[in-house]
Amino acid sequence: MPKTKIAGIGMYVPDHVVSNQDLIKYMDTTDAWIQERTGIKERRYAHRTEETTTTMGVEAAKIAIERAGITPQDIDFIIFATLSPDYYFPGCGVLVQRAMKMKEIGALDVRNQCSGFVYALSTGDQFIRSGMYKNILVIGSEKHSFGLDFSTRGRNISVIFGDGAGAVVLQPTENDNSGILSTHLHSDGESAEILAMYNPGTHANHWLPQKLADFNEGEMGDMFMSHAMIDKAQNFPFMDGQSVFKKAVVKIPEVIMEALNQNGYKPSDLKILIPHQANLRISQYIQQTLALRDDQVYNNIQRYGNTTAASIPLALCEAWQEGKIKEGDLVCLASFGSGFTWASALLKW
Ligand code: UT7
Repeated sequence: MPKTKIAGIGMYVPDHVVSNQDLIKYMDTTDAWIQERTGIKERRYAHRTEETTTTMGVEAAKIAIERAGITPQDIDFIIFATLSPDYYFPGCGVLVQRAMKMKEIGALDVRNQCSGFVYALSTGDQFIRSGMYKNILVIGSEKHSFGLDFSTRGRNISVIFGDGAGAVVLQPTENDNSGILSTHLHSDGESAEILAMYNPGTHANHWLPQKLADFNEGEMGDMFMSHAMIDKAQNFPFMDGQSVFKKAVVKIPEVIMEALNQNGYKPSDLKILIPHQANLRISQYIQQTLALRDDQVYNNIQRYGNTTAASIPLALCEAWQEGKIKEGDLVCLASFGSGFTWASALLKW
């Protein structure tokens, strides 16, 4: 059975740099608070109308495809991970198929937030190993700036997130010394509401006409066709940051060890760990727990903030571009986020 290798990798971030100082114009925060608590100095915001989650994903994909030495017409499956799709439906995968004039191939959207890219990579890995596809495009892209609460009410979230995209092309390899060794996916829905964007969602029937609502035994409450949803900020992401932090620093080292143990490695064998860029303090905590050296953990959250499904491919791409990942190196990707979901992938580059 073939293994799966990353044959090409690309990234895209918008030109528009937003510093911590820029955010102070909109909310009660400080550069010191943001840097101390998160490590973030600046992030990028996409152009309000001309750039979308899909267009950024396409830019990253063009580079990944070119680096893989193929053309968009060679791609035989698309997997697109995002929590900020252009439309509620259809997903971004089909928009990539259209924009890149690809063949009438399958296009799958993955909705696993911060773990989205690793889930997508794992899905692609299974299709390659089974022999079903030969060239899979996996994209992680987010346009968070479209929907953050930039008032003081939303400051614990809005200072963290940024926009950007990363993409990889997956291909089969018969080389025993390269490729994805294993992937590990987990979830625990018990805390689903701790990090979530509640609305618009079908759970509350916001848009049901009154007559049908009455028929529905008046379940609408104060939400019916009112601004309550917006007044309660339910159209913005909600996060109980401390609870997420506490769980992340346990689950990420755990899922990294799961990958290392399954393949007979120890943390010291890692050339580089690419953790989800949620908070520099989380990355530092993981580094300490696993006794990793500074050069074994890659972070770029300082410049891009938390880009959710894009954060791992953005960091992986930059680490590779900086020459920090070479052929045969042991690389681990690890994530944790909304759901909760968490995941890892161990690979030989
Ligand atoms: O990628 C998805 C997964 N997400 C994560 O992994 C995020 C995990 N959590 C975190 O990174 C951190 O919890 C945060 C960075 C979100 C928040 O840091 P914290 O140290 O947990 O702060 P906190 O939420 O406990 O808030 C402490 C104080 C509060 O004020 P009081 O009640 O002590 O007076 C907040 O209102 O800091 C205040 N605060 C802010 N102050 C200035 C919250 N946000 C801000 C802000 N600027 N942006």
